[in-house]
Amino acid sequence: LASIEYDLSKVEEGMQAVVKWRGKPLFVRYRTKKEIAEAKAVDIKTLRDPQTDAERVKAGHEQYLVLIGVCTHLGCVPNFGTGDYGGWFCPCHGSEYDTSGRIRQGPAPKNLEVPEYTFLSDTKIKVG
Ligand code: FES
Repeated sequence: LASIEYDLSKVEEGMQAVVKWRGKPLFVRYRTKKEIAEAKAVDIKTLRDPQTDAERVKAGHEQYLVLIGVCTHLGCVPNFGTGDYGGWFCPCHGSEYDTSGRIRQGPAPKNLEVPEYTFLSDTKIKVG
């Protein structure tokens, strides 16, 4: 299946791009310092799908969060900026994800999936 390259300089701090990849929305979010701090501060023992923030980003590029934008409940596309955990809210049945894309509340069983990707340079990633 196809890989894509994405130029991160198109995304400003505090914003997210939505790119189509393999028929699904891919979220590329440039996190603020506050979002990163919130993601790191979570005690992973309290999480349904325990993962540290560091496991979900690339070392040295932690401001960028790359996610498959498909709710792990029944596949709706969550919206950023609503909900109580600073991240995404799924309008279908109310799952809430944090600033690392981890499930925090609602019926979804898993964190938003981080696809396989690599940094080709400081401003370019290859997904897939
Ligand atoms: Fe997202 Fe059900 S599909 S909460």
